[in-house]
Amino acid sequence: MEQPQYLLEWSDKTLMKEAKVILITGASSGIGYDAATKLAQQGHCVYAAARRLELMEPLKALGVKVIRLDVTDETSIQQCVETIIQAEGRIDVLVNNAGYGFFGAIEIVPMEEARRQLEVNLFGLARLTQLVLPQMRKQGCGRIINTSSIAGKMVIYMGGWYNVTKYAVEAFSDALRMEAKPFGIDVVMIEPGSIKTNWGPIAAQHLREASAGTAYEEAGARWANSMEWLYKSRIPSSPDLIAKAICRAVNSRHPKARYCRGRFSVSGRVAHALLPARWWDAMMRRMGRVKI
Ligand SMILES: NC(=O)c1ccc[n+]([C@@H]2O[C@H](COP(=O)([O-])OP(=O)(O)OC[C@H]3O[C@@H](n4cnc5c(N)ncnc54)[C@H](OP(=O)(O)O)[C@@H]3O)[C@@H](O)[C@H]2O)c1
Repeated sequence: MEQPQYLLEWSDKTLMKEAKVILITGASSGIGYDAATKLAQQGHCVYAAARRLELMEPLKALGVKVIRLDVTDETSIQQCVETIIQAEGRIDVLVNNAGYGFFGAIEIVPMEEARRQLEVNLFGLARLTQLVLPQMRKQGCGRIINTSSIAGKMVIYMGGWYNVTKYAVEAFSDALRMEAKPFGIDVVMIEPGSIKTNWGPIAAQHLREASAGTAYEEAGARWANSMEWLYKSRIPSSPDLIAKAICRAVNSRHPKARYCRGRFSVSGRVAHALLPARWWDAMMRRMGRVKI
């Protein structure tokens, strides 16, 4: 017997799920790109959003609809949400995934860079959330999936402002989960560890540039070398692992509050929780002194 159109086969198990209208941000590379690919392959109606449209062009072959979105621009955010609601009449899942790391010592990272990082990693996510919530409440159901990080659970050497943004995403999501539940809306956090994407080289580059010509030049350059080495190595996990966790959070009938996946995501959190602060600080500083 032919399956109705709104049903689709999910993963290699024969679990049948309803196709959902999904907006995923930060879909032009890394985790977001892989998640958009997988969700489209599962038969969902996927809107992939980012600034670099050209990088999302191949997704169109999978039926993904591509939208230009700058999460720091109010007009761009509003247009993105309106376009989807007008076209589909609903929005079932928002995956807030756009983000980046501007590493550097607190003393030297310019305040405008700190603010910009908060704009992208926190306020952009928050504004999109505000705009989809009325529609989700009207529907009586919905799901908001926020890409947090292990950096929202443990503090990384010279990653201060990035840590601030991800700790904030954790608190924001925990608060939202309680408020949205009575309306049938689930809030989920994805907490990746070290994942092999452009994120690492971008954070290292910012660290090197911010540190140059300052008291932190040598320490910053060493730490940037270590980060570059790590992200070139085979140690970080594949973005595919996180994309699978996002699919699980989308498809699961009762999603977990957090999905913690990837290299160092568990070991890092346990060590940070158990070690006295002085030991943690010493370990981080020692890692920063390694010459590569
Ligand atoms: N890789 C890791 O080790 C790791 C670990 C933990 C958490 N994470 C988190 O995972 C998420 C995805 O990162 P990734 O690893 O996949 O890195 P990535 O490959 O660098 O992807 C980052 C995505 O964010 C988008 N983005 C950045 N600024 C934006 C803006 N102003 N407006 C709209 N989109 C913007 C980028 O698109 P455009 O530049 O085209 O706009 C890009 O698609 C981020 O939130 C990151 O913090 C990554």
